[in-house]
Amino acid sequence: MGELNGRIAIVTGGGRGIGFGIAQQLAGAGAEIVIAEFNPALGKEAVDSLTSAGHKASFHEVDVRNAESVEAMAQAVAAQYGHIDILINNAGLAQIGPTETFPLDDWNRQIDVMLNGVFLCMQSVGRVMLRQRKGVILNISSIGGLGAWPMRSAYNAAKAGVISLTENVGTEWARHGVRVVSVAPGVTRTAMLQQMVDEGIASLTQYEKRTPMGRPGEVEEIAKAVQFLVSDRASYITATTLTVDGGWTAWGNLPL
Ligand code: NAI
Repeated sequence: MGELNGRIAIVTGGGRGIGFGIAQQLAGAGAEIVIAEFNPALGKEAVDSLTSAGHKASFHEVDVRNAESVEAMAQAVAAQYGHIDILINNAGLAQIGPTETFPLDDWNRQIDVMLNGVFLCMQSVGRVMLRQRKGVILNISSIGGLGAWPMRSAYNAAKAGVISLTENVGTEWARHGVRVVSVAPGVTRTAMLQQMVDEGIASLTQYEKRTPMGRPGEVEEIAKAVQFLVSDRASYITATTLTVDGGWTAWGNLPL
């Protein structure tokens, strides 16, 4: 019996990368997974992979930027299972560029998916959890939300906003049985990272040098921290962010 047996867990952007890794981890601990994904092909593939490994999972198409789409997903999941125990706000995308010429459409897209999307999912699923007087919401932020990186104003502003939302809503709902926490992953080996490396806008060597542990994180390392935070082992943890970054945030950057 896993520690999350019988729990229903929604993972936004769970079709691939960190979201899919979290879905696999939570499923392995006994949770039933709802992949809430924008891209139906990725969402269905993720569900097939989970179910063929013997886990329970379903796919709900959702665009986290759209309030109606998010509300419909939350209502459908609540009706289908009768309860929602865990929400992982993971959907994201990365666009990089100099602030002075950064297109407003790209700024809006990043804020829309990674900040407004987190807010909308917290609202719709949070209403279900508040009625239950029970639930855990875990938001995926980033080390970019905790420190400055040139060329990443929109991404980092969204991720800093997620940390603030986590603290605000975590304290607001603390007396109502709903915990809200966040994880700030460091550079993590995913398709998003590989794409940035392939496009020449990220350098693995540079990241390795900047990380005290000397390497990027693996998806499973993020997912294990997430499992702990959404489990009852973390029952007194709310309104806070855990860095899972190989020491990145703490390091003042003097040569090791
Ligand atoms: P990814 O690009 O591999 O996966 C993101 C997923 O979100 C995709 O499946 C995509 O279809 C989905 N998605 C995008 N827009 C959506 C929308 N509007 N509605 C629903 N789903 C949508 O990215 P990765 O690397 O797995 O990142 C996941 C999260 O982790 C993101 O929030 C990212 O900012 C964060 N993160 C990633 C790091 C890394 O190094 N890969 C480091 C720190 C944070």
